[in-house]
Amino acid sequence: MLQGKKIVLGVTGGVAIFKSVQLVSNLRKQGAEVRVVMTDHAQEFITPLMFAEISGNKVATSMWDKNQEFHVEHIALANWADCYLIAPATANIIAKMANGIADDLLSTTLLAATCPVIVCPAMNTNMYENAATQANLATLASRGVTIMEPNAGFLACGVNGKGRMPEPIEIQNFLDEFFAKREGDMRGLKVLVTAAGTREPIDPVRFVGNRSSGKMGYAVAEMAASRGADVILVSGPSALKPPANVKVINVETTCEMLEACLAAYDEVDIVIKAAAVADYRPRDVADQKIKKKNDDAMTVVMDKNPDILKTLGGKKTHQVLVGFAAETQNLLDNAREKVVKKNLDMIVANDVTMQNAGFNADTNIVKLLYASGDVKSLDCMPKIEVAKVILDEALKIRANRE
Ligand code: CTP
Repeated sequence: MLQGKKIVLGVTGGVAIFKSVQLVSNLRKQGAEVRVVMTDHAQEFITPLMFAEISGNKVATSMWDKNQEFHVEHIALANWADCYLIAPATANIIAKMANGIADDLLSTTLLAATCPVIVCPAMNTNMYENAATQANLATLASRGVTIMEPNAGFLACGVNGKGRMPEPIEIQNFLDEFFAKREGDMRGLKVLVTAAGTREPIDPVRFVGNRSSGKMGYAVAEMAASRGADVILVSGPSALKPPANVKVINVETTCEMLEACLAAYDEVDIVIKAAAVADYRPRDVADQKIKKKNDDAMTVVMDKNPDILKTLGGKKTHQVLVGFAAETQNLLDNAREKVVKKNLDMIVANDVTMQNAGFNADTNIVKLLYASGDVKSLDCMPKIEVAKVILDEALKIRANRE
């Protein structure tokens, strides 16, 4: 989402300025063009040369610079930007913005800006909580300025409290979501994704599980969020880092996953059920670790779990319902049967015995089977690309219904 975005970063004089250097680097790596405006106080902490080197652009510092790059710089910079980000934003710049004061280049360009403005307050806790600062932030918010809440934690002034500027990656993710929610082709849609395998406990230390890593479902959640959807990811245990800008609900068992899916189901538009769900669970879960006996064998009696997808299929109203079929044989026949039995709009079928596909691989080779009976075969591609195609197809199914 940040590819090609033109961002003016306004930097004021706070100690969190060191994070802004990394932020500029991150934004450029994402393909954004960044132009930095610094106040005089900011230059007490870091020289403009640092930001010029990192941003690859001349840094704007003064209204009276004879060598300025833009004609009437404060107006031209404001017109150039897709977004104006102030990070760190001191109590002083927040007060100036709220009151329309334009007494240096940054505050003047801000007054001239018509693009979206995002403010990242960073200051001492007492200054942040002061009624004047809170009133100024409320004024800005009421005028459509987006405020990114500071974090709580240890501050440079020695106190522990709210006022820390979020980390560069958090601001980058915030910007990503900001643009995705305005421009992404899935904005306004709610997507429920399930991922990873469920685990059924045998005793406090053992469980019945499967080899699913969660990579496919996490890729779908990441892709949907980057296209502006509101994403709920219901995940079984996974070693993966949760994708940015996604609401994650961690579950362990099939029954917990069913409960989480049902709670969200009525309000979602698209469901992608990539989880590898345990079909059976041990009937009796021991309170204490089961000790080894002298017998040569042991039996664990298993009861059938609910079929989550079939349950959702039975309650389907407006939702586009997409399932997965992990097969080791008769791929198309088995997958087709699941489409019918579970009332699906589409199923993503993969032969998990193939190389570069299935559990734990970074790529996948899938066939898409539709309720109509049509089949589309995709080449081997990274799971994130597969995720994109799955979501494209889900959008088409939705569009064809309307
Ligand atoms: N699924 C589910 N609840 C279950 C079992 C499966 O929601 N109890 C979902 C999976 O998330 C997947 C689809 O159903 O989207 C197919 O799962 P799969 O394991 O391939 O098939 P099963 O229906 O379990 O049938 P079988 O194991 O016999 O192949």
